[in-house]
Amino acid sequence: TWKLDDFADAVIQQVREQVGDRRVICGLSGGVDSSVVAALLYKAIGPQLSCILVDNGLLRKNEQQLVINEFTNHFKADLRVVEAEDRFLASLAGVTEPQEKRRRIGSDFIECFKAEATQIKDAHFLAQGTLYPDVIESGADPDGPAATIKLHHNVGGLPAELGFELIEPLRDLFKDEVRRLGLELGLPESLVWRHPFPGPGLAVRCLGEVTRDKLVVLREADAIVIEEIENAGLYRETSQTFVVLLPVQSVGVMGDARTYENAVAIRSVDTNDFMTADWSRLPYDLLARMSSRIINEVKGVNRVCYDISSKPPATIEWE
Ligand code: XMP
Repeated sequence: TWKLDDFADAVIQQVREQVGDRRVICGLSGGVDSSVVAALLYKAIGPQLSCILVDNGLLRKNEQQLVINEFTNHFKADLRVVEAEDRFLASLAGVTEPQEKRRRIGSDFIECFKAEATQIKDAHFLAQGTLYPDVIESGADPDGPAATIKLHHNVGGLPAELGFELIEPLRDLFKDEVRRLGLELGLPESLVWRHPFPGPGLAVRCLGEVTRDKLVVLREADAIVIEEIENAGLYRETSQTFVVLLPVQSVGVMGDARTYENAVAIRSVDTNDFMTADWSRLPYDLLARMSSRIINEVKGVNRVCYDISSKPPATIEWE
């Protein structure tokens, strides 16, 4: 029971007034916005909140556990985890086209979320982590680059289908205010400063067909890169840092034998708005540590590349 500052207090009061004694459902993704929404609602209405995490099998290493620790061990929120890895991987089998992957992941997500949400009998509101810049962007040129990114973000589909009233408590806030609110509410810095992660998750970083085996390789390599950049104190200096598993096998040598294994790319970008981005000038010795750890520790990878493309013309993600 810490004392919240006036700003956090005001937002909490607002939520209490809007919600009254009704029940709110909140989808958790592990990202900053949904976590702050959930923490805020938990502070405001406690047991009237039910959270849903759909584990699509495309999350980063330990991500499900991180959310569970935060929302059921730290906060005592009602959190329902939908274990849907098998379903998503079955939908993705044989699919190589990126937009088709997104489409399948999006519709599976809606189905899983809906099935869980309808179990929560008296639910009235659906909470969303819409921020002020999202509100502005959705009113902008429908064919402009902002609209295209939003389309990628697969927001929109959920609420109308489910028939809940929307509650968007971060609608007036900018990202820095959301982070400040998150810290005020007791979320750890590691969560509040997390890099954005796409809704389709590791599926769009596993180029070509997504398989369970490929995801294991990608997840391990990604975790090493994040750990190393954190250890170097540079995580917050970059906007997004991650690994992409390339659909390429390359020749290597181990002892006397030739190997024929996977290549991965490290991607790290600096950007203010994600519309344009420059590749991060990471120190060579950091890149060297990332590379040798990936090659030594991740079975099935024998080559690491660093992506030095800026956006435009390259995008941040590879798919
Ligand atoms: P691109 O690759 O378009 O990425 O330069 C810009 C930002 O958007 C994120 N991104 C997505 N986020 N669903 C999401 O929720 C998606 O399908 C998606 N595609 C890209 C990307 O991670 C970057 O932050």
